[in-house]
Amino acid sequence: MLAASSTSHPSLDPAILILGGQSYPLPVLEGSEGERAIDISKLRDQTGHITLDPGYGNTGSCTSAITFIDGEQGILRYRGIPIEQFADNTTFTEVAWLLIFGHLPSEAEYEEFSRDLTRFAYLDEGMKHQFEGFPRNAPPMAILSAMINALSCFHPELHELEDVDQFRHAAARLISKIRTIAAYAFRHSRGLPYIYPDPALRYVPNFLHMMFSQPYQQYLCPSLVRKAMNLILILHADHEQNCSTSTVRMVGSSGANLFASCAAGVCALWGPLHGGANVEVLEMLERIHQGNISAEEYVKLAKDKSSKVRLMGFGHRVYKNFDPRAQMLQKVAEELIPLISGDDPLLDIARRLEDIARSDPYFIERNLYPNVDFYSGILLRAIGIPTNMFTVMFAIGRLPGWIAHWWEQHQAAGGRIARPRQIYTGNRQTDYLRLESRGAA
Ligand code: SDX
Repeated sequence: MLAASSTSHPSLDPAILILGGQSYPLPVLEGSEGERAIDISKLRDQTGHITLDPGYGNTGSCTSAITFIDGEQGILRYRGIPIEQFADNTTFTEVAWLLIFGHLPSEAEYEEFSRDLTRFAYLDEGMKHQFEGFPRNAPPMAILSAMINALSCFHPELHELEDVDQFRHAAARLISKIRTIAAYAFRHSRGLPYIYPDPALRYVPNFLHMMFSQPYQQYLCPSLVRKAMNLILILHADHEQNCSTSTVRMVGSSGANLFASCAAGVCALWGPLHGGANVEVLEMLERIHQGNISAEEYVKLAKDKSSKVRLMGFGHRVYKNFDPRAQMLQKVAEELIPLISGDDPLLDIARRLEDIARSDPYFIERNLYPNVDFYSGILLRAIGIPTNMFTVMFAIGRLPGWIAHWWEQHQAAGGRIARPRQIYTGNRQTDYLRLESRGAA
């Protein structure tokens, strides 16, 4: 079934596949921004052939009305609104509502959603004790994925989401509690007492309060930090069919509940080629800062395939010009970091790396530019977030996008379980050999 926003135009000529001397017309459909796709949903029935596209660089898994990206033009829009317009006017809470429910919230909707996020911020005391079961040095993404699933054990009433009110309840609980889970994972890793959420604080200040307050001293969130953190979360909130969002859709397509699907998204995001890149960027900048290697030498390594080194934070499957999020984060980093922590040598190194790469034919020919991860880590570090929590911050930002896609798929009529095909390249038929007849090898 096609989403309402995209239609197979009868006026569009079909694609003609000629196979074995026979012609097969394949419908062509066009999205609301003029993107076109060949509908191959009946290809195997008609031709006995499948398509093969490792990494799905040429394959659409669904139609969606949530986020539009034009990788050539560097365009990113949430429900049609360019992300540049969120820079000064809004909060992460409002953008989360927009992505999930498809429109900007009315004042009443915004206030009710904010009240829900406030009242749902605490964790069941039974969950709090589960943090003690993790080693102090446990990877925070492992804790996050485990505790999102644990959350569903405390809310069995939210496993089956039949109506929009129940769904809104589940979404608010997840978006609110992911902060508390993240903060408690950090506190546990440092042997610090857990700091309860403060109902007087809004989304971002409450998170940073749970992260950094002490029993004897409350953390007060500077307005600059609040603005920067809101923007960091907004810029990570959705990105159409990226690896982790596609994972959430894949898991959700089996009928798995919202919590299980988002916990799977956390695991996909953890990878160094995806959300884990922001940690790799910081470690790359630290290595250069410690003098182990110069920026020039690092770029040289990244160009040498045999080194297996990549310039982390550079390149993107979709953006082949620039990642608008990287540009916005760089601007915030340039404004904020001098005010928070004075000159940061890592920011200077990042600028140097970008300058070198932007004038190097290797990167130019491959359309490799800074992506969202290149500047986000430097900003998070300036705010005081430890490096091993960077990808957790990405997950907090991306959660509304995962929830929006899960719900869009859940609502779509005629949804089918996602089950790709393959081309088999293994043994032809062979027989079982008993142990005694297998020879010495
Ligand atoms: C995110 O999908 C999304 O939208 C993701 C994301 C989101 O919001 O969800 O935007 C978030 O994951 C951003 C990407 C973070 N990852 C990194 O920064 C890791 C470094 N980047 C690369 O590993 C790579 O660019 C990817 C993974 C981002 C994209 O990989 P592709 O599209 O599969 O590109 P590729 O590996 O086929 O590379 C094409 C060429 C190759 O060289 P050739 O074989 O053509 O000679 O470019 C080279 C690659 O070797 N290349 C790089 C490089 N990225 C690609 N060479 C050096 N350094 C790099 N960073």
